[in-house]
Amino acid sequence: MKILDRAAEVKALLKSGDRTFLPFKGKTMAMIFAKPSMRTRVPFETGFFLLGGHAIYLGPDDIQMGKREETRDVARVLSCYNDVIVARVFAHQDILDLAKYATVPVINGLTDYNHPCQIIADAFTIIEHIGQLEGTKVVYVGDGNNIVHSWLLMASVIPFHFACACPKGFEPDAKTVERAQKAGISKIEITNDPKEAVRGADVVYSDVWASMGQKEEAAHRRKMFEGFRVDEDIMKLAGPKAYFMHCLPAERGVEDRWCH
Ligand code: NVA
Repeated sequence: MKILDRAAEVKALLKSGDRTFLPFKGKTMAMIFAKPSMRTRVPFETGFFLLGGHAIYLGPDDIQMGKREETRDVARVLSCYNDVIVARVFAHQDILDLAKYATVPVINGLTDYNHPCQIIADAFTIIEHIGQLEGTKVVYVGDGNNIVHSWLLMASVIPFHFACACPKGFEPDAKTVERAQKAGISKIEITNDPKEAVRGADVVYSDVWASMGQKEEAAHRRKMFEGFRVDEDIMKLAGPKAYFMHCLPAERGVEDRWCH
């Protein structure tokens, strides 16, 4: 919550046109992207620049972590040249290895397991529009994927009501669900019934049915996820106060037939 409060202050400062807050002056940040990105890459790059630093984008062909070079070597060498590392990778173990061998902070810019920056930013958006995250009901409809894991981890530290409605066989990681439930902070529901789940929602949240790295499963998933599309009927059941959110990129008409 302290990070979010601070983010609101810094956002207001930058929006006002003030460019005198330069905490990263003289600092550099290496950004490893093994997968495509717009909403993670651009704000990291522009944000770091606006706060005085220089960000270096390293795309899928530049480093080829674990293939062209071992992860521990990448971590050690980038730590010599940079003050921060951001990485978007496939295997979650890669970000853990980067963090283990790097001597500078490593920021998770999405893995197959989770996407913390996304959910922290979503919490910020919810606070901006609803006033607070505490006590709200957030209902995710779709695949129990990396986004859901980060919602569950958020629910382990901030009290709200989180429900995930996904088809059978596409539930989130059981250990992460258990961790969120055991934390005893938030109400957690995992269900296969989106219509029931969305009742009383403050936020209905959706994501693609086939994430990066799963695109060859898209046709099969489209069949499995029929009934989990956020459309007018779902939003009607959620009620008039419900906002629709999507981490994007969206496949319009597939998982979302609501927001056009
Ligand atoms: N679940 C999506 C999130 C994209 C921000 C993916 O991993 O592709």
